[in-house]
Amino acid sequence: PDTGSSDSADGGGGGDVITVGFAQTGSESGWRSANTESMKAAFSAENGFDLVFNAADNDTAAQIAAVRSFINQGVDAIVIAPIVEDGWDDVLQEAADADIPVILEDRTVSASEDLYAAWIGLDFEQEGVTAGEWAAAEFGDTETNMVVLEGTTGSAPANDRATGFDAAIEGTMITKLDSQTGDFTRDGGKSVMEGFIQNYGVDGIDLVYAHNDDMALGAIEAIEAAGAVPGEDIKIISIDAVHDGMQALVDGKINYIVECNPLLGDLVAAAVTGVVNGESVEPVQYVEDLAFDQAAAEAALPDRKY
Ligand code: AHR
Repeated sequence: PDTGSSDSADGGGGGDVITVGFAQTGSESGWRSANTESMKAAFSAENGFDLVFNAADNDTAAQIAAVRSFINQGVDAIVIAPIVEDGWDDVLQEAADADIPVILEDRTVSASEDLYAAWIGLDFEQEGVTAGEWAAAEFGDTETNMVVLEGTTGSAPANDRATGFDAAIEGTMITKLDSQTGDFTRDGGKSVMEGFIQNYGVDGIDLVYAHNDDMALGAIEAIEAAGAVPGEDIKIISIDAVHDGMQALVDGKINYIVECNPLLGDLVAAAVTGVVNGESVEPVQYVEDLAFDQAAAEAALPDRKY
């Protein structure tokens, strides 16, 4: 990645306020709320930032327009949580031409690494592998019919969590019956699960792999409405480990959760400060994820920060 620096008058050196435009995806999930909170706390006025916040409601055109407006405003740095991987080349080039450094958080893009200074986030493919390895160990030796609730189509976590999981269950007796997007939302997970139940019947589905907790929580509602018991009649694996998901795991309605840590604000703010001040910044920063079964969730839940 290119560690470009801002040339604006108040470019962050010597205690000046750093103006940062943050293009958030939207507010689709509990994970997203925790991520937004973490970012707003880190980019506070007390910490020397003037944050211009935009949430795009999961609309990629609106998110790109928000980034363009940050460029026109002449902010010192731009942070993006990109909704989807593709389609970023032009606007990232425009930011580079305006000499405004870009830092990505959470999700990745397919554009050249020269067009952004740093990326800070999670290993989504490894999350999928961890979830898939648990499924393979638990269900791999028995005929198991699985349905998948995918995240937002074209997003890095939906792509990579599918790849990682599929690789981990290869050669097992788990069969993927169907896979559709629920857009990372509770409502999306519920309505897609209702469709799966209509098509395959509650008795025809043994396992749900949900790309996030919110969709798993929606699936739980659909399964209960169909008269079945989530976590028993139909097993559920999900990703995020937000509070409501962990509670469902403790309650036995979800069977396993792989964490996706949303508390990225401090690392992103440190990267922005470094880049704006012309320091060298680690261009790729992975944050560690844990994984929880019911006992681990019970132990962890009281101290969870999100
Ligand atoms: O990009 C991270 C994903 O986005 C989270 O897993 C999901 O809950 C959120 O919407």
